[in-house]
Amino acid sequence: MSENTRVSAFYDGTVPKNEVERLKNYDYPNTVSQLFLPKKLSGQTLLDIGAGSSSTMQEIVEQHEGTYMALDQSPDLLRARTRSGVQIQGDARHIPLEIKSDDDKVDLSHCRFVLMHLSPEDRALVISEMDRVSKNNIILDYDWGSWEKRITDDQDKFSNKPEYAKSINLQKRFLENSKALGEKGKIEMNMGSKLKTEAEQILKKEVTEKRVIREPGKYYNEMIMVGLKANTPMWRKLGDENRAQEIEQIVREIEQLSPEEQAPFCWTDIVGITWQ
Ligand SMILES: C[S@@+](CC[C@H](N)C(=O)[O-])C[C@H]1O[C@@H](n2cnc3c(N)ncnc32)[C@H](O)[C@@H]1O
Repeated sequence: MSENTRVSAFYDGTVPKNEVERLKNYDYPNTVSQLFLPKKLSGQTLLDIGAGSSSTMQEIVEQHEGTYMALDQSPDLLRARTRSGVQIQGDARHIPLEIKSDDDKVDLSHCRFVLMHLSPEDRALVISEMDRVSKNNIILDYDWGSWEKRITDDQDKFSNKPEYAKSINLQKRFLENSKALGEKGKIEMNMGSKLKTEAEQILKKEVTEKRVIREPGKYYNEMIMVGLKANTPMWRKLGDENRAQEIEQIVREIEQLSPEEQAPFCWTDIVGITWQ
């Protein structure tokens, strides 16, 4: 595999079918995005950059009488969308919209879980492009460090509860494999925590940051989905069958947990920035 090969190439060319489905059925991020949307969407146009295969954001915007535009580089993901509307197959680093004056700008751009897959240079291009084509902007990314920190910080809380030992151990194994995947694939796992600084450096203006924290609880389902539908095929794409099998094993063990053991499961924070 050449030096240039990155896991983010997962989204180039043919996107594995199970990832297309995972994105489609993964609802929680839409709840988070809604926290960042303006109160009034009626009459507003939202450009979703790296929109993926889920049509839920489109549903939300259209329910509020806004206009939704999907931009993605992947024809597979665009094709899987279930709602018709404006779909642009294009590169977020060079958004194919001609802007001669502010009137040509969209009202809102939204870019979720895309920057973490890009190099710093490409991220800078996307942020500048969003600023060029849109009056208001929202970027959301995960901060995987938050999950790790919570498990470590809460060690005492968990260590005197033997019923949690198995699930803590599984979360650690899951995190370890996911972090290794991030390193190998040059995915910026802590992108969320870097958004504000990077964006302010590029835009030379202030941006607002908000962190959305998920309480420990019933999030083991997401681990199963991320494990089997994203993590495992990515390891296979990288030719590491051992890691792929380790993730499958972790998922099988997670599925065996009792409700008490599932209780301490937590998940990564999502960090959002907005600017005008
Ligand atoms: C993890 S998915 C996120 C999809 C969607 N935003 C969501 O939150 O469900 C990353 C998406 O970014 C898209 N993408 C990555 N690089 C891109 C680029 N340079 N231009 C346009 N889309 C890109 C991929 O095709 C994929 O749909």
